Amino acid sequence: SISVKDTEARNATAPYLYGLMFEDINHSGDGGLYAELIANRAFQGSTIVPGAVAGLEGNTIISSENPTIPFGPVLTGWAPIGNVRMSLDLLHPLSDALPTVMQVDIPANATGEVGFLNYGWWGMEVMPQQYTASFYALANAPRSNGNTTSFTLSLRSNITGETWASTTVSSKIPFVDYIQLNATIKNTATAPNSNNTFAITMDASQVAGQTFYFDLISLFPETFANRPNGLRKDLAQAFHDMKPRFLRFPGGNNLEGVSVQTRWKWWKTIGPLKDRPGRPADWNYYNTDGLGLLEYLYWTQDMQIEPVLGVYAGFSLDIYGQEGTSVPDDEMPKIVQEALDELEYCMGDVTTKYGALRAEHGHPEPFKIKFVEIGNEDWFSSTYPSRFRIMYDGLMAKYPDITYISTTYNENDGYRIDIPEGAMWDTHHYEEPRFFLEGFNFYDNWQSSTNNTNVGVLLGEFSFFQVDTPSGVVNFSNPEDTHVFYPRLLSAISEGVYALGGERNPNTVKMSSYAPSLQNFNWYNWTPNMIAFTANPKETVVSASYYQQQMFGTWYGTETLPVVNTKGDFNPLFWGASIDGKMNAVYLKVINANATAVPLEVHIDAAWSTVNATILTSPDVDISNSRDELTAIVPKPVVFPEGLRAGNGSFTWDVPGFSITVLQFNTN
Ligand code: AHR
Repeated sequence: SISVKDTEARNATAPYLYGLMFEDINHSGDGGLYAELIANRAFQGSTIVPGAVAGLEGNTIISSENPTIPFGPVLTGWAPIGNVRMSLDLLHPLSDALPTVMQVDIPANATGEVGFLNYGWWGMEVMPQQYTASFYALANAPRSNGNTTSFTLSLRSNITGETWASTTVSSKIPFVDYIQLNATIKNTATAPNSNNTFAITMDASQVAGQTFYFDLISLFPETFANRPNGLRKDLAQAFHDMKPRFLRFPGGNNLEGVSVQTRWKWWKTIGPLKDRPGRPADWNYYNTDGLGLLEYLYWTQDMQIEPVLGVYAGFSLDIYGQEGTSVPDDEMPKIVQEALDELEYCMGDVTTKYGALRAEHGHPEPFKIKFVEIGNEDWFSSTYPSRFRIMYDGLMAKYPDITYISTTYNENDGYRIDIPEGAMWDTHHYEEPRFFLEGFNFYDNWQSSTNNTNVGVLLGEFSFFQVDTPSGVVNFSNPEDTHVFYPRLLSAISEGVYALGGERNPNTVKMSSYAPSLQNFNWYNWTPNMIAFTANPKETVVSASYYQQQMFGTWYGTETLPVVNTKGDFNPLFWGASIDGKMNAVYLKVINANATAVPLEVHIDAAWSTVNATILTSPDVDISNSRDELTAIVPKPVVFPEGLRAGNGSFTWDVPGFSITVLQFNTN
C-alpha cells in the first residue's frame, strides 16, 4: 500500500533530468540522423564496400567484426551511367577542405544518356516530398556550344531503373572556378522499397568529348523543422517525442579523436559545407561534419532543449580502451582558448569575433550554453586532475554562470579529483540488469558518502549491455552469448528502476541519457542502441528502452511528492511520484521487476477527477522489438477495473508482472 502525500515536503524535480546523448557512432549521424542522402558526397571516405558500384547488393552489412577501408579518397558509392569514365582527381580541388573531386570523361563517340549515380546510404527512401539537390561542377575547357550544359537530376529505382521524379538544371559550366548548381525535385511517387539511386545525367549529343569535374554532390529530403542541411525527419521526430530536456554532443569518444590531430575541431565543423574537411573519426568511418556545431545548436533550438556541450579537454584515445595521448599542461592554455572561442561562437554577440562569424553563418542571435562537459571519460587518462583544473579555471573565469561537468570524480583509482561545488560529474554505466536493479538506492546518500557536497550527477551514458553473469564484469568484446543486441523489456525495467532512483534524488541526479542513441543496421560498431534504423523509415526499431525513456520524460512533474509505503519496502515494486502544477496532475511511476502481479493499494492525497495510465509489460521479460517484429513490446493504455471512480481517495490495483506503469491523476 502506497500513499502519495501532498504535503509541504515537496522538492523541485531536476528540470533537465531526461535527455539525449548523441555522437556519430554506428553511422548515427552521417548515413543516419544527418539527412544528407548522398554517401561519400565529397569522395572523402566511405564504409560502403569498395567495388559496390554494381548495385545495392554489393553494399553488404559491415560491422566492426567486418570492417572495410573507411577513409578515402574513394569513389565508392558511385557508379557510371552510359559511356563515361569516372576517376578521382586532385588537380582541380573544390576547396582546401575538399581537395578530391570526381572527374567524368565522356568519350567523343558517346551517345544517349551519360552521367553517374549514387546508391545513398545503403539505399534511399523515395516518398512524396520535395528534395533539394546541389552540386559543384567545372569543365576542363571552354565549350564550343556556348558552354551551356543541361543536367537531369533524377530519383530512380535501382532495380528497374524507373525514374520516380526528375528535374533539369542548365548552366554555363566555367572552366576556371567551380559553379554550384541548385535544384529542387518535386516527387509524388512512393517507391516500393529504398533500393533507389540519385542520378545526374547529360545528353551525350551535348557533351561528347568533354571532361567535367564534380564535387559535394548533395541531396536532401525535407528535414525536421524544415531546417536546411538538417535532420532526418522521422528519426528527429522520434527523439522529439521523448520530450527530452537536453542534448549532449558531440561525444563521447568521437569528441576526443583517435589522435590529437584528428579530434573533433569545432571550427572545422562550421560554415559552408565546402569548407568543412570532415575527419577520420573515432568510430572507424569518415565523418563529413555536415552535422556540425551550428547544426547541433539548431537541433537544440528546434526541439527547445538545453545544449550540453562537450569540449575537447586535451586527451585523445589513440587506441580505444588504452591510455591515449594527453596534451601536456604547458600546452593546455591553447586547448582552453579553443574552448573559449567555441563558447564565443555559441554565445557571443555579433560584436565578438566568433559571434560575428556565427551571424555570418546565419544565426545572429546568441545561443545560451548552460552546461559544458570537460572532455569525455577521462578515467582513461591519469592527467585529468590537472587538465580539468586548467580547463575549469580558464572557462570559469570568462563564463562563471555555466555548470561544468567533470568526466570522473574522486573515487577513481590512482588519483583524486575534487569536483568543485556547483559542478557536476558525468558517470557512464554499460552494465548488467542486476547493477541497475540493485542501484535503486545508489544516489540516496551519494553526495555525503563520496564527499561531493553540492555536486550534481549527469548519468550521461547508460544501458543494460549484457545479461547477468556470475562475475558481473561487462565484456566489451561482445561475446554473443551474453551481449544484448536489441534492448529488451528487462532493459527498460532495470534502467527504469535506476532512473527512478535518480528521479527521487533531484538534488544529486540532475540529468540522464541512454547511450548510444542510434544504430544504422547496415553499419554499426555498438549494440544495444535505443533506436535502430535503415534508409526506410518503416523499418525503424524503437526499443523498449526508448519507451521507458519516453514514458519517464513525458509523465514528469515539477515537484516530487513523498510516497509513504505502509506494507513492505521497495522490490519487486519500485515507485516515485511527482506533481505538475501547470498540468494540474499527479504522476505516479510504478515498476514491477518480478514475474508475478503484485496487488497495490494506492492512495492519492490530492483530490483527483480522472486517471489515465500507460503500461509497458509482457510476461516475457526478454521480449524486444526487432526488425522482424517492430511492435512486440509497446506502451499501452491501462484499463482500470470497474469501481475505480473519479475522486476515489484510494484504490487497489494489481500491478502486472514485469511492467512499467505511469499513472496520471488529473487534479483539476
Ligand atoms: O556510447 C559509446 C561510447 O561509450 C562513448 O563514445 C563513450 O563515451 C563510452 O565509452
